[in-house]
Amino acid sequence: MFQLCITKTTKNMETKTKIALVTGGSRGLGKNSALKIAQKGLDVIITYRSNQEEAEAVVQEVKAIGRNAAAFQLDTKDRKSFDPFVEEVTNYLKETTGSSHIDYLVNNAGTALYSPITDVTEEQMDDMVDIHFKGVFFLTQKLLPFINDGGGIINISSGLARFATPGSSVYGSIKAGVEMLTKYMAKELGSRKIRANVIAPGAIETDFGGGRVRDNKEINEMVAGATALGRVGLPDDIGGVVAFLCTEDAGWINGQRIEASGGMFL
Ligand SMILES: NC(=O)c1ccc[n+]([C@@H]2O[C@H](COP(=O)([O-])OP(=O)(O)OC[C@H]3O[C@@H](n4cnc5c(N)ncnc54)[C@H](OP(=O)(O)O)[C@@H]3O)[C@@H](O)[C@H]2O)c1
Repeated sequence: MFQLCITKTTKNMETKTKIALVTGGSRGLGKNSALKIAQKGLDVIITYRSNQEEAEAVVQEVKAIGRNAAAFQLDTKDRKSFDPFVEEVTNYLKETTGSSHIDYLVNNAGTALYSPITDVTEEQMDDMVDIHFKGVFFLTQKLLPFINDGGGIINISSGLARFATPGSSVYGSIKAGVEMLTKYMAKELGSRKIRANVIAPGAIETDFGGGRVRDNKEINEMVAGATALGRVGLPDDIGGVVAFLCTEDAGWINGQRIEASGGMFL
């Protein structure tokens, strides 16, 4: 019964299970996305920056769902590592599937910066640009030859690209850049039938920013009060949206910003 639900593609008369690569899949939204994608019948590759143990635990959870999974180390700030990373991943794919290609890339990895404009240092800004913009841009560029035509790219932005809360000028502005970049990806990759969309989560209870949305009662209550549905977001509110975009049911959604925030600051 479960087998019948597996997402497959027909290529050269062979059916092939689709594969999604999720950056920052060891924790939080990336982990939840990886699990929800696996529940849709896709195999998953996740990356982690330092938490190998947690990444391996996610791999085991995906395998328990009945899908293949593997974890690779990647720092999206370290662009020199992208070529060896792509080689490592494509070698793994070739060995395990016979093809060096994936179908979906989820650019999720990232860290927070909360600092007023008066205090932001150039080093902090460079870090944010490297991780959240250049990392997304150049990792996508390096992986594009290995994304099957008809596949998709899902970038993760933030509600902070739409509304402004003090301290998030750099982060929110860079995420706004990722949203425009997504439109360019959709435009330029349309000829390959590759769709590009961006999901903008509201404030979600994860480890992000030291877990402040989850652990700081004042912030949690402020977010809940500013949200039409009256609570803070959970990873489960996001992973399913990412997973949906990794299916053919989302085949006509392209170049779109989808905010998943429970209606924050409407
Ligand atoms: N949580 C929110 O409220 C929220 C709201 C809107 C948007 N977002 C966005 O959602 C994405 C995921 O956030 P999250 O809440 O899931 O955060 P999280 O729980 O802190 O998890 C971050 C993930 O990204 C990885 N990572 C961090 N820095 C990295 C780097 N330089 N290179 C590669 N991987 C790196 C981490 O790997 P390790 O486990 O190895 O450290 C981890 O897997 C981010 O892009 C964030 O901006 C989050």
